[in-house]
Amino acid sequence: MELISWSEKYSVNNNLIDSQHKKLVGLINQLHAAMKESKGKEILQKILGELILYTKDHFSTEERMMSAAKFPGFAEHKKEHDGLTAKVLDLQKKYGEGSSSLTIDIMNFLKSWLINHIEGTDKKYKGRIN
Ligand code: FEO
Repeated sequence: MELISWSEKYSVNNNLIDSQHKKLVGLINQLHAAMKESKGKEILQKILGELILYTKDHFSTEERMMSAAKFPGFAEHKKEHDGLTAKVLDLQKKYGEGSSSLTIDIMNFLKSWLINHIEGTDKKYKGRIN
């Protein structure tokens, strides 16, 4: 079973952003599946790296759109992006060094990291950026 199932309730009514969020959901599910199948560390690190790169791209896209729309919550939103990026980079570092492993707790952390951000923060710009 997938860790996260995409639902229209996560939509922010913007096709580009929704498609990027779906891709992030897909990458977290891919990482979860690889962890459950006990894939090698190299494969897990590769997927985690893709997730981080794609997250950075996605955050840049949103920030460009919020800035262009002069969205008033931009600075606060960007701060949250920076905090989320720092957390996931720390996770990647610890995993790479061998001081932590990819566990279901980490996967649940990534799941809430994404879903809470979409539901609690991204939705604030719904209908206000394009
Ligand atoms: Fe979809 Fe603010 O990240």
